[in-house]
Amino acid sequence: MKQDMIVIIDLGSEENSALAREIRAFGVYSEIYPHDITLAELKANDNIKGVILNGGPNNVVDGVEIDVNGDIYNLGVPFVAYDFPKALCEKGDSSNLKSWLFDVCKAEANWNMANFVADQVELLRKQIGNKKVLLALSGGVDSSVVAALLIKAVGKNVTCVHVNHGLLRKGEPEQVINVFGKELDADLVYVDAVDRFLSKLEGVTDPEQKRKIIGAEFIRVFEEEARKLEGIDFLGQGTIYPDIVESGTKTGKAVKAHHNVGGLPDDLKFELVEPLKYLFKDEVRACGKELGLPDNMVYRQPFPGPGLGVRCLGAITRDRLEAVRESDAILREEFDNAGLRGKVWQYFTLIPDIKSVGVRDNARSFEWPVIIRAVNTVDAMTATIEPLPYDLLNKITSRILSEVKGVNRVLYDITPKPTGTIEWE
Ligand code: XMP
Repeated sequence: MKQDMIVIIDLGSEENSALAREIRAFGVYSEIYPHDITLAELKANDNIKGVILNGGPNNVVDGVEIDVNGDIYNLGVPFVAYDFPKALCEKGDSSNLKSWLFDVCKAEANWNMANFVADQVELLRKQIGNKKVLLALSGGVDSSVVAALLIKAVGKNVTCVHVNHGLLRKGEPEQVINVFGKELDADLVYVDAVDRFLSKLEGVTDPEQKRKIIGAEFIRVFEEEARKLEGIDFLGQGTIYPDIVESGTKTGKAVKAHHNVGGLPDDLKFELVEPLKYLFKDEVRACGKELGLPDNMVYRQPFPGPGLGVRCLGAITRDRLEAVRESDAILREEFDNAGLRGKVWQYFTLIPDIKSVGVRDNARSFEWPVIIRAVNTVDAMTATIEPLPYDLLNKITSRILSEVKGVNRVLYDITPKPTGTIEWE
């Protein structure tokens, strides 16, 4: 890493991530370290310009009062303490954070995505060399950005496996093939596992059971593909900084070793490559933009691992699954037309396993309803309802009723979380 770095030492604060983001927003790179970091470990980085001791009210971690190793004060850079009464250094607060960074530490605002990508490409080339990397490419933001970065660094030495389990949104498998297989000329293995997943899911109504089947089958398909490939040394993963920084008492450096390979069998052991592990989500998106990935991939809204499987409620059938996929595509298109992409956190459709009586072309119909969900949230733990304009709801409704086969009603779910979860299953 050539960019200047500010180290945040976690002394029990719950604001470590927020502080790192604040510093990065000034264009200065920042990482979070545990309180017991040693001088030698800090010295392994030659780019540290300053250290912030970031404590909570009592400097307590896991119930024990803590302090830093006294020798780290010999690092030879400015130290500042936020809420850390014991520190042998100047005390600071975020009103003067900017001047501390630039006037006291003399940090340069050189943290940007072009530099990050250049650094990572160099690091990945060093780490991987002529060896081979395998990556499960779902088409989601994180795995797509990892793929683009790995392809830029080691080209055909990365094999991307895209498993189409039939539960992806409209156009997603095609986009993965176009962007990675064609435009980026990646070594892409496309696995059409649609029939396999749908037959495993046949008649399964319990939501947890559905999720388990989808997760386990995914690992099985990926494992089968991995076994077909020769000489794979590394497994690429889309781990990002929030995955490894636990708020408050544990830090990224302390927990990252625990990140596992997601259920692959023991005899398939790979070394992990996690080039996004120090990026926050918005930085991952910026990195994707820097690498030239399309907007609708980079700014994709959150999508559950089990995909449309949890939006086709109860036992999944092909016809209802298609109706969910088509209605979701209409909803997303109309949100785009209304300028709502990126403004509403998550929006989608779902179909319950019930039918109602209606009338179409002067005849009785007996068809499914489509339910619209559109929510805003900060952390997905609670969510509020986006008050959609009536005209938009009207437009979406008439399009779904005329374009989606088997649907005769459209409903709008205005339940916040709690009591409803965002997904219905
Ligand atoms: P709930 O339904 O629990 O969802 O309110 C909160 C957020 O998590 C997403 N979600 C998932 N994401 N794998 C994921 O990566 C999953 O299995 C999963 N289930 C739900 C959901 O879409 C929402 O954004």
